[in-house]
Amino acid sequence: MTAKRQILVTNALPYANGPIHMGHLLGYIQADIWVRAMRSAGHDVIYVCADDAHGTAIMLRAEANGISPEEQIKNVQVEHERDFAGFNVAFDYYDSTHSDTNRKRSEEIYLANEKAGNISIRPVTQLFDPQKQMFLSDRFIKGTCPTCKTDDQYGDACEKCGTTYNATDLLNPRSTLSGATPTLKESDHYFFNLPNFTKFLQTWTRDEGRLPTSIANKLDEWFEAGLSDWDISRDKPYFGFKIPNTQDKYFYVWVDAPIGYMASFENYIKAHRPDITFEDYWKKDSDKEVYHFIGKDIVYFHALFWPAMLHGANYRTPTSLFVNGFLTVNGEKMSKSRGTFIKAETYLKHLNPEYLRYYFASKLSDKVEDSDLNLDDFVLKVNSDLVGKVVNIASRCAKFINTQFNNKLSDTCTESDLVNSFIAKGDEIIKYYENREFSTAIREIMALADIANQYIDEKKPWALAKENPNSTDVQDICSVGLNLFHKIMIYLSPVLPTLAKESKAFLNVESLDFHARFDVLTHSIHEFIPLMQRVDPKKVQAMVDDSKEDLQTAQTNQQSNKKTSKKESKPVETNNEFIGIDDFAKVQMKVAKVLECNKVEGADKLLQFTLDVGEEKTRNVFSGIAKFYTPEELQGKTVICVTNLAPRKMKFGISEGMILSAEKDGQLTVVLLPDSMVAGATLA
Ligand code: MSP
Ligand code: ZN
Repeated sequence: MTAKRQILVTNALPYANGPIHMGHLLGYIQADIWVRAMRSAGHDVIYVCADDAHGTAIMLRAEANGISPEEQIKNVQVEHERDFAGFNVAFDYYDSTHSDTNRKRSEEIYLANEKAGNISIRPVTQLFDPQKQMFLSDRFIKGTCPTCKTDDQYGDACEKCGTTYNATDLLNPRSTLSGATPTLKESDHYFFNLPNFTKFLQTWTRDEGRLPTSIANKLDEWFEAGLSDWDISRDKPYFGFKIPNTQDKYFYVWVDAPIGYMASFENYIKAHRPDITFEDYWKKDSDKEVYHFIGKDIVYFHALFWPAMLHGANYRTPTSLFVNGFLTVNGEKMSKSRGTFIKAETYLKHLNPEYLRYYFASKLSDKVEDSDLNLDDFVLKVNSDLVGKVVNIASRCAKFINTQFNNKLSDTCTESDLVNSFIAKGDEIIKYYENREFSTAIREIMALADIANQYIDEKKPWALAKENPNSTDVQDICSVGLNLFHKIMIYLSPVLPTLAKESKAFLNVESLDFHARFDVLTHSIHEFIPLMQRVDPKKVQAMVDDSKEDLQTAQTNQQSNKKTSKKESKPVETNNEFIGIDDFAKVQMKVAKVLECNKVEGADKLLQFTLDVGEEKTRNVFSGIAKFYTPEELQGKTVICVTNLAPRKMKFGISEGMILSAEKDGQLTVVLLPDSMVAGATLA
């Protein structure tokens, strides 16, 4: 038995302006499995997370939704917590970075760094939107490329010729927020002097086990290029924490986001763990372990800024960063038009979360590799491994024990070499979990499942039972089979908490923790219940179709506050949520009469419309509002139709437009116009 370790685990904090999707889940499920495995091995693990609530994008998103930023982040947090719970990602505490605790910690860490001489102030000249009265980062500015003269280029680089430039070099620049011509304006910015930490970081990133080697190598390139000061202030308007001793300067969201790890932990122990203190885990010489699970796109923040900020404020730094690669679906970047931008919520409407947990586990390793969710492979693997192999062992054996032997397992199992060999395999499997080599752990466990099935195939208890239903051989064989199933479920339980819970009830055991593998079962079990259904490929298809339909109603572009511009070696804020007035003018909306409205066979979210939009031909439009309206309610009504969207081929036909409706908390209301309005009139 190894000594009990005290461990704090965090996951990257998701932004509070968009839904959780399959890509996010890769890292959250990975961490949750690891936490469960470490607990199963007897360690004391605290697992926290929070919503990342600050920044320009969230502020603008709230504005667009017509609500306050506080309301915006509250609504999203409810959805995020619901989605994580749906996938059995069981944080001990789920916080928000917009908390008093986080404000205090952020101020404290900033002030300590200031005192240590790590902060400097100097003026920066930036483009300013005179209409919105705010400074514009590169992504909010478009104009003509100074080199090749292509119009409509962003403020950092030309997509046509590849030139990188400063936003101030653009010809005819305009704000993508208001369309106004930006002016130049100077203001004081606060900088964190990252170069002060070069030596420290060079050693830190090379410490044993700190970072995946591939990442440490990548960071060496940054060191060679030389670190630059990090701009940590933003001018108002900004949704965030004010920098102490300033009038109107705010911490850039990436300052208080990682401090949110500490604050969430602090709020958790205050409420639930009177036995430990904040200092126990965060003081410089703490013997506790701290691990951050993050995606590969946010390594720069976690491997440079974060340890430097902590070190500068005299706190300990994380023990290791565990970095996951990116998820693709069917071999490609998740795509809304292909229906592979699958939200957690949409998945849960159609499929069992344990399928995905298993599939991800079978793909994940300790390497920073991208993973693919291939939906055909997903169906095959889950059906063949979980249903065909694992659950099958129990269903083949339980029947006889339940019916012929009054649920009682045989006393002879303790002498089974096979059972003992399954127990002995545990050390190795636990080690794989500990090292986050989940795919290897799964491979080993499935090899055990194959052995168990072979054993049953060879012994043929059903043939023996035919000859003599009460033969103790049948009882012995099935009891061994169920003991093998028991060990397999113990090894799988970090991945499949729900299946484990149900197996626990069926096997009539107290615990499926790793140490329980030493128990050989000879007691009475319970009635077998079907433990897991096969994945129905039709449901997978329905989920994909549903993800396509979502397009019409919900726009879920993820904010990117973390794009690292090559030329400046510093993160810039970006947002592709907002369009300029020119872009808006491209959208054509017309008054439309609903000539016909029908249900769609096989798609319970959809209604089919035949619309008169004042053209020679009527238009066929599908809209995902069947949950909210019966066809009769909309028949003859006057609505707004977007008429210049590219026609979209859907499973049920071609959609030639989009009916506008308003959304709030998932509730959709079609925008109705007075019936006096004439079909075909243009809205502007
Ligand atoms: N708010 C920051 C993190 C702050 S941590 C102090 C952020 N948020 S995010 O919502 O964009 O991403 C949350 C996590 O999901 C990150 O670890 C990110 O790498 C991960 N992923 C987002 N899309 C992903 C994939 N397609 N594939 C795998 N991981 C992905 O970053
Ligand atoms: Zn160009």
